[in-house]
Amino acid sequence: MFSKDIPYEVNSFSIDETKTGKKMGRLTLKNPEDNTLLNCVLWEEKIPTMPERFFRTGNIVKILSGTYNETYKNCNIDQIKLLKIAKLGLDEEETEAYWQKLVSYINRIQNEKLRTFVADLFETHKEHFKIAPAAKQMHHNFIGGLLVHTVEVAEFAEKNLALFPSPHNEDDIYAACLLHDFGKLFEYTLDQETGKIDYNPDFQKQWLSHTQYGFTICMAQGFVGVARQIAAHHGRTDWGAIIDLGEKNLEPELYFLHLMDNLSAKFGKISISYFETPAPENEDIIPF
Ligand SMILES: [Fe+2]
Ligand SMILES: [Fe+2]
Repeated sequence: MFSKDIPYEVNSFSIDETKTGKKMGRLTLKNPEDNTLLNCVLWEEKIPTMPERFFRTGNIVKILSGTYNETYKNCNIDQIKLLKIAKLGLDEEETEAYWQKLVSYINRIQNEKLRTFVADLFETHKEHFKIAPAAKQMHHNFIGGLLVHTVEVAEFAEKNLALFPSPHNEDDIYAACLLHDFGKLFEYTLDQETGKIDYNPDFQKQWLSHTQYGFTICMAQGFVGVARQIAAHHGRTDWGAIIDLGEKNLEPELYFLHLMDNLSAKFGKISISYFETPAPENEDIIPF
């Protein structure tokens, strides 16, 4: 919904080029009250007047002047007011706390070969994994977002597994929770100064997706049960899964990881705003 009264949260920002070679800023704003998204456009002449830090994901802004276009269902922005600058991501203490939780889930894996495989992967890519985002704009799109998301999926799994009477392979489930998005390390690039997240074109030349990456590295080591959960974690082939959960006679674990992943992506700490401390009264910044 377009309103000049709503303090919106910046969801994503990118600069594209139109067919005529004109630069155009694409800004998506989220109404934190109902999580609806508002697509906005900033034309070339407006972009230099608004510093890049205005559009950092998680910032809180108000539209001072703009018009809503019913045909294109977007808002043409003329002036924007920055109310609060978001954190770029987890601080050192938060990162360490999440890392320790991640390690504790690795250590739950009883099978030594599988535990060593998972532990070695995380140890090798430790510093990168601590800062990687989980997405460009959908969820956990901040520095450390992939770490938060991965731990959440394992936590949701732990809570739910405790309720199930039927036997299940916990080793495979925890390994799949921890590795399901591991390929995202290489799927995205991150500018640590601005927090800007982009797709890594080199990854796309070698791999189809992070799902294919995770599936492949697990299959290569003979961890078929883990690989199959990763293959199905996006639920539908239309949504990037290799195994479609609409197929018949699939093992229950395949649905489980998909559901835990979805819970984290929808109800976890999906935005950096969950890690914010309240801004001081005088935080308002008006650039015009
Ligand atoms: Fe994924
Ligand atoms: Fe995920």
